[in-house]
Amino acid sequence: MEERNVIGVYHLTKKYGDQYALKDVNLQVGNGEFVFLVGPSGAGKSTLLRLIYMDEFPTDGQVVAGSFVSTTVDRKKIPYLRRKIGVIFQDFKLLEDRDVFENVAIAMRVTGEKSYEIKKLVIHILTQVGLYHKRNDLPRKLSGGEQQRVAIARAIVNRPAILLADEPTGNLDPDVTEEILRLLFRINSGGTAVLMATHNLSLVENFGQRIVHLKDGIIHEDRLTGLGGNPSDKLSEYRWNRKRLDKQETTGELR
Ligand SMILES: Nc1ncnc2c1ncn2[C@@H]1O[C@H](COP(=O)(O)OP(=O)(O)OP(=O)(O)O)[C@@H](O)[C@H]1O
Ligand SMILES: [Mg+2]
Repeated sequence: MEERNVIGVYHLTKKYGDQYALKDVNLQVGNGEFVFLVGPSGAGKSTLLRLIYMDEFPTDGQVVAGSFVSTTVDRKKIPYLRRKIGVIFQDFKLLEDRDVFENVAIAMRVTGEKSYEIKKLVIHILTQVGLYHKRNDLPRKLSGGEQQRVAIARAIVNRPAILLADEPTGNLDPDVTEEILRLLFRINSGGTAVLMATHNLSLVENFGQRIVHLKDGIIHEDRLTGLGGNPSDKLSEYRWNRKRLDKQETTGELR
């Protein structure tokens, strides 16, 4: 893998029984890059992400994520890999019986950090995602967007080089979706590579980011949309267009 790549996927195949979930997939993600992984249901997006964070292993081929190589990794080292790769999901996967602070702190406890270090960092990250005031609440008292921000805080508290997001806005309404995208772009501008899976091409195609299209376990297209630039500017455009479309829908106005 070239030095500037943080993810390298080489001839990756994953079969479940006789069924191919991924077929000879090749993909590189550069250090600090933002990539949308788009494809319909069943395309293999979640499978690809699971193989990258080594929750599962390939039938054939190889994944390199940071300094971890799927074919040689010591399975006991997986907790250390979780420090380098943050992961967020559509359903947040928070611990329902722990408060917000603890949900984030837990990601540091597994790696044996000192408790004052944990406290300092968790407070810092919760402030960054705008949830310091909710630190003592249980997840069920939070809105969906707030819960996803807790999950994001947990995923980035160890300052990972890679953040994987599997349909992170799938359960959220458009305003909150925008807020989560904004947060992901901000994390990315701090140098973390982000790979975000979504089935919603129309949501992501206007940000000028790289889009990888997956279908039936095969990459069909890998392209940059637009001219790149700062995605947060595009987010404002997106908001403006969406408000306009919403208005057209309610007023029946066409153009
Ligand atoms: N644990 C499993 N056992 C058997 N088949 C599986 C398993 N996980 C995934 N598959 C199959 O692999 C294929 C790819 O599934 P995957 O969940 O990766 O798709 P996806 O692109 O994430 O879809 P969605 O948008 O619905 O989340 C599907 O055909 C699915 O049924
Ligand atoms: Mg999926």
